[in-house]
Order: sequence, then structure tokens, then C-alpha cells
Amino acid sequence: MDKAFSFSYRLLTDASGLEPAEAALLAAANEAQQLAYAPYSRFEVGAALLLDDGAIVKGGNQENASYPAGICAERTALSAASSLYPGVPISAVAIAYRNLDRNDQGEMILSPCGICRQSLLEAFSRQEKKIKIIMSSPAGRIIVLDSVENLLPFSFSGSFL
Ligand code: THU
Repeated sequence: MDKAFSFSYRLLTDASGLEPAEAALLAAANEAQQLAYAPYSRFEVGAALLLDDGAIVKGGNQENASYPAGICAERTALSAASSLYPGVPISAVAIAYRNLDRNDQGEMILSPCGICRQSLLEAFSRQEKKIKIIMSSPAGRIIVLDSVENLLPFSFSGSFL
């Protein structure tokens, strides 16, 4: 039997097509690039989470001389939100980056790595409420997805355990 996953998303050429709350969250993700500690890759990522109580939690990637010990911006922000605002659902996440060594990536829209997808999915299943994701390129192209769930089909989850 053939089956298919399908989902729709919004592709925008700039932030003018975002709702005001989405635009504010993306601005926070851009600011959060300043929180990156990325001396090894020089790829600075900012993530911003919007919580249901209106709080915005920011995180930047945190690298380590022992490379695998580094942590992405998305997981930095998720851990901060869970620790500082326990139990408060997340409604949206925005991500932005700059590559200090390349200026040819203006149009390339960042999407989270596999481990971050798994972590975003855990946050979603924990709160049982959708988390929207706003992904951006340095020049301002944007993809908006209604649910982080769509980033990881055939996912592993706590329901197995
Ligand atoms: N990185 C993130 O923080 N988020 C992403 O979505 C992709 C990659 C970080 C990890 C590492 O510090 C650097 O970017 C280069 O991979």
C-alpha cells in the first residue's frame, strides 16, 4: 500500500509577509546570533522561542574545543526555556544565522539539524500543542511551518518506551 506524508508551508521573500508576532520573534532570533559562541565553525546561529505567557527565550550555539560537546542554538534555547519557565508551552521558534566566512549564503534558508528536530519534537509531544517554526536566510528569505512535527517524519518518540 502506498502512503505519503504531505504538509504545506509558507515561503516568503522577506519579513513583510509575517504576522507582527512572527516578525518580532524572527528579530529576536537575529539578535540571538550575538549569543553564539562559535569560534571553531564561525557559523553563528540564533534561536528564539515564543512562550504562551509572552516571554521570548533566546539562545545561540555554544561550541567546544571538543567539537561534539558543542550544542546548537535551538537546543540551547529549548533547555533555557524548560529551566527558566517550566511548564509554559512554546508556541513558536525562529532561527537565523550568519556565516562569518561566507557571504554567498544570502538565500540559503537554515533548517535545524537532526538532533534539534528530535529535541523540538520532544518539546511538542511534551506540551501536546503545536510549535510553529520560522526559518530564515541571511538575506531575509523565510519558510514558516505550522508544526515542528513536519520536520521529522517516522520519528522516534516516548510512545515506544
Ligand atoms: N548549528 C546550530 O546551532 N543550529 C542549526 O540549525 C545548524 C547548526 C550550529 C552547530 C555548530 O555550532 C555550527 O552551527 C556549525 O555546524
